[in-house]
Amino acid sequence: MTWKILLLLNCLTVLLLSPASCVDRGNFKTCNDARFCKKHRELKSDDHIHELLVDSVTASSAGTSISGTVKNLKTNDELLLEVYGVRDRTVRIKLNELNPSRKRYEVEMSLDGTPDYVPIKMEKQHGQIQLLLGDTIHLTLHPKPFRIDVYEEGTLLSMLNADNLLLIEPMRVKPGKVQRFVSWISSFVPEVDEKGADHGEDHVEEENHEGGNEVKDEETKQDDAPAHEEERREEPWEETFKGHVDSKPFGPNSIGLDVSFIGFDNLYGIPEHADSLRLRSTKANGDPYRLYNLDVFEYELNNPMALYGAIPFIIAHSEKHTLGMFWNNAAETWIDIDYTTTSTGGSTMFGDSSSQPKADTHWISETGIIDIFLFIGPKPADVSRQFTTIVGHPYLPPHAAIGYHQCRWNYNDQKDVQTVHENFDHYDIPMDVMWLDIEYTDGKRYFTWDAPKFANPDEMIKNLTKFGRNLVVISDPHFKKDDNYFVYKDLKDKDFCVKSKDGGNFEGWCWPGASYYPDFINPAVRDWYAELYSRETFKDAWTWNDMNEPSVFNGPEVTMHKDNIHIDGLEHREVHNIYGMAHVMASFDGHLKRHNYQLRPFILTRSFFAGSQRHAAVWTGDNTADWNHLKIAAPMLLSLNIAGMTFVGADIGGFFKNPDAQLMARWFQAAAFVPFMRNHAHIDTRRREPWLFDEQSMFVMRDAVRARYTFLPFWYTLFFHANQTGAPLMRPLWYEFPKDSTTFGMDDEYLLGNALLVKPVTEENAKQTEVYFPGDSSENWHDISSLQIHKGGTKASIDTPLQKIPVFQRGGTIIPRRFRVRRSSILAIEDPITLSIALNDEQIANGSLYLDDGITRNHLEGDYVFAKLELKDNLLKSRVVHPSKKYQTKVWLERVYITGFKFKPSGVEIHELPAGERKPLEFFYDETNRVLTVRKPGVNMGKGWAIVIRP
Ligand code: NOJ
Repeated sequence: MTWKILLLLNCLTVLLLSPASCVDRGNFKTCNDARFCKKHRELKSDDHIHELLVDSVTASSAGTSISGTVKNLKTNDELLLEVYGVRDRTVRIKLNELNPSRKRYEVEMSLDGTPDYVPIKMEKQHGQIQLLLGDTIHLTLHPKPFRIDVYEEGTLLSMLNADNLLLIEPMRVKPGKVQRFVSWISSFVPEVDEKGADHGEDHVEEENHEGGNEVKDEETKQDDAPAHEEERREEPWEETFKGHVDSKPFGPNSIGLDVSFIGFDNLYGIPEHADSLRLRSTKANGDPYRLYNLDVFEYELNNPMALYGAIPFIIAHSEKHTLGMFWNNAAETWIDIDYTTTSTGGSTMFGDSSSQPKADTHWISETGIIDIFLFIGPKPADVSRQFTTIVGHPYLPPHAAIGYHQCRWNYNDQKDVQTVHENFDHYDIPMDVMWLDIEYTDGKRYFTWDAPKFANPDEMIKNLTKFGRNLVVISDPHFKKDDNYFVYKDLKDKDFCVKSKDGGNFEGWCWPGASYYPDFINPAVRDWYAELYSRETFKDAWTWNDMNEPSVFNGPEVTMHKDNIHIDGLEHREVHNIYGMAHVMASFDGHLKRHNYQLRPFILTRSFFAGSQRHAAVWTGDNTADWNHLKIAAPMLLSLNIAGMTFVGADIGGFFKNPDAQLMARWFQAAAFVPFMRNHAHIDTRRREPWLFDEQSMFVMRDAVRARYTFLPFWYTLFFHANQTGAPLMRPLWYEFPKDSTTFGMDDEYLLGNALLVKPVTEENAKQTEVYFPGDSSENWHDISSLQIHKGGTKASIDTPLQKIPVFQRGGTIIPRRFRVRRSSILAIEDPITLSIALNDEQIANGSLYLDDGITRNHLEGDYVFAKLELKDNLLKSRVVHPSKKYQTKVWLERVYITGFKFKPSGVEIHELPAGERKPLEFFYDETNRVLTVRKPGVNMGKGWAIVIRP
């Protein structure tokens, strides 16, 4: 707590100077403070010329990869280059030290299994190497200077090392330390099985015996050292930041590479940053974007500082093509961005002599290997599919998790929880999940309860579940140092803690004071931790994994020391950005195990990495009750969505400070149209349940929640699509309209799926808001409240009285909705469906509907209904393309509501498919607004049916 108080004081001082922000920048490194970043950033393009030794390049026996040696002509360091063909227009390129004196860490946890490798053909021609993947993708490997060009149908898309910024600093072992180090590490490294066993120091010896490549420390190397070694030796190994010394026992061993995207002038991705969706050029001024999972107190907006999570995945987009790249590295990483032009495309080879745009990126990581996946697209949806095939699709959450969540730090006791829950009913506001923050524990000891305040947690949970609601409790990864605390004792006794550099258990400060941190990188630790979730009073609660960057109040940059040690002697610096992901993997497993793999887990995590979408939802951490924070939510959530992390939200109202009624109301409205909707606040803020505001504002908040609930069948179907294909739920406009260049810089409006355009109101007292309607004039956008239709390619000022949420349905789409108001979403799961159909100019529309029980994992066995909906030639059809196995849905069709319908029908009939009896239906046609409403078709949605509309 002392630490936080100091920060608060510090914050107050900063506030006086700059009311807009309060982050203590001095707590966090700039690129200049991180020596490796500065070094790479200052590299000149002739500093390190590399050569690919063409004769060394060979194809693997399976024909799915090639490998060869790349030599640094300045240092003579040799690198191993590997290029793999991967199914679905994907290429993997790895660069590692050929003979490292210590095995470099390769991240596997991010990958959803081994990639599906496919043949890649190699030809050596005119001293170059050509690689062919499929019929259209080819790579040219230029030997000297070493460079890789990537082409699709003869068009150059990307160049690797075109600026010669490739550098891998060799791993070294401190002078005179080799033997001592090896024996010291093996003294405490526990034995591990499976995956955990194949990295680390023990391999140093093994490999060196086998490969005859002796481990040489700096002293033994001295005599035969070439001149450039002098330069290396001059660089001190230790690095100090704010009094924290990083011993760097393997010397500076950073990696870096430049990657240019040719013909592209828009880059997106690399979350998490509180910045615009389109990445800014960082070259001219300021720092590169930083990826290093950190607990940043009162983060600032519009800058590239690191935040809680990291997904090193970038998308390059132009009117012609979309390309993706994943930098699979879990160490601290910085990415420089520069938008320039190139005349490279002007060579006769490309047939065009004019210059073209080019987006240059420079990737710099503190350690690990260069492990790149290039996703060749060509459309945004292809890139999403290609990327999530590698890192995994987002999991399908339980239905309740997509409803409204009520949280605060803290609900004080059992009675408080009960009262809040009852008030939601009293004020008729749907709510699915109540949350408990750290104060529910016995002195911040996770997996315990503060018994006087929460005397009967089982009863409390049952009081919620019997009303169709759920409870989430927080569980952080720091365990209070207290011998009477069973988790701590077990952690210590089993020797499962992260170690400090001297080999003892690492002790850091967090909420409970002195704490130990489990080494989640160790699979055995994950298994042990998973079991904790089966504890009697926890097994029916869902989980919130917070502070898992990990946050260490007294550590460098509020996190763990980089020279801390994990399993197999891995340094923390090697795994820092996957620590949180590993924590969540264990929680997910624990949730599965405790209910015998029958129920779908729900976990919210603050820290994440590429692949975390397989297990959890993410929120954007400690935002502030401020209009600018409301505004930044959309770009932050979009950036996460296009990077595979689809189940995301921002705290409603802003975590710090007190929102006024208007801000709160607008925040509810905005949050109703993002994937994860949770109200949450800091312990020092005023209570902010909707009924605590004036009545009008409360009604606005209630309407926003109810509006969300009407769209839950649509949301749930989107979640299913994301689970199947990796498609984002929230999409930038360019994602659906890749040729509409007006949208490339836009991030204040977005699409849900391909069907809803949302423009959150984020200006105080906004009477109107300007909305751009993407696409060409064949697009129609139907205002869901005023029914006004706007043409694609136009802008309009939309009136925004407080009740208004500017949402527009795209002509040509069908959206399933539910209109009965219930206290929670699970109670509505069998309620009937209304189809909202917005027609395009051809009077056509398409959509889909996903239904299952919302709770179990039976959908994995095929127990779900998936129906494709189409309206064409006045015939509305539902084809069940996936009939359920055991799950019998009771969901029926209550109403069809068609906007943009051009005539009054003479009759409407329904029949079951293929050829059931035709029954006439009641209908109503509103000529003024051109809306056709068909009443009570009554058909079961688990079956196919058709509605015939007669002219
Ligand atoms: C930090 C989290 O970001 C915040 O949401 C939470 O309330 C506090 N930790 C206390 O647990």
